[in-house]
Amino acid sequence: MKTIVANWKMQLGIRESVALAKATLLYVRGKKHIPEIVLCPSFVSFHDLKKMIVNKSLHLGSQDVSSKPNGMFTGDVCAKMLKESGVSHVLIGHSERRVFSTDTNEKISLKIQSALEESLIPILCVGETKEERLNGKMEIVLKTQLRSALQNVVLKKDKSFYVAYEPVWAIGSGETPLVDEIVKTHMLIREILLEIFPLFQKDQFIILYGGSVNDQNAYSLLRESEINGVLVGSASVKLHQWTSIIDSAMSVLDQQEEII
Ligand code: PGA
Repeated sequence: MKTIVANWKMQLGIRESVALAKATLLYVRGKKHIPEIVLCPSFVSFHDLKKMIVNKSLHLGSQDVSSKPNGMFTGDVCAKMLKESGVSHVLIGHSERRVFSTDTNEKISLKIQSALEESLIPILCVGETKEERLNGKMEIVLKTQLRSALQNVVLKKDKSFYVAYEPVWAIGSGETPLVDEIVKTHMLIREILLEIFPLFQKDQFIILYGGSVNDQNAYSLLRESEINGVLVGSASVKLHQWTSIIDSAMSVLDQQEEII
């Protein structure tokens, strides 16, 4: 399976979100091998998108979740409310929330636990800054982010766990690491996850790559077995690029079937 997540950030209003979701539904209709597609609009679009896409071939994702289950937290949206809105997946710890909001590793850990309690699927985002990379600190940064976010997290043994590797410097910049480097980093992340959850199998970890994914590089990323999918920002709001990325995933899935 391949997973494609669209992170629409604060870019689309309700009408635009509905139009793009509709176009995506039409695009995949009747196709043989459809990847797991998760659309993450802003909160205000959940209501309209729930009616359209839930129980079809698309899933609804949230860009964040409160670390608290309920209470006096102005502006927060808790996991239970997301569930009620038709959400199945939640991005947690996106670098924009780590930088512009107050997402510390400890808070991220609580968010993951909140999501899991409501049977939502967390997608934990991790990644190093350019400076950390240049100073040879990538490995330690990823270890720290994963270990502290996953402390106290209990996973069901038969479930998958999603991580998005998003180098901060690659987000929205047009720059990406080489595919080989991404593959190596995914292997490293898988090893760290196995240390944290020793009873899991390697393939229970779904590791996505995010950061300047577009129609030009999607295929070369998705054809790698270590890369279980992609998390797409800017290119996910441009219909032509978005459908072309979905197309790349479908081609890879078609080829996988031929090999089997
Ligand atoms: P980008 O964003 O594809 O525009 O780099 C990815 C993300 O922020 O998740």
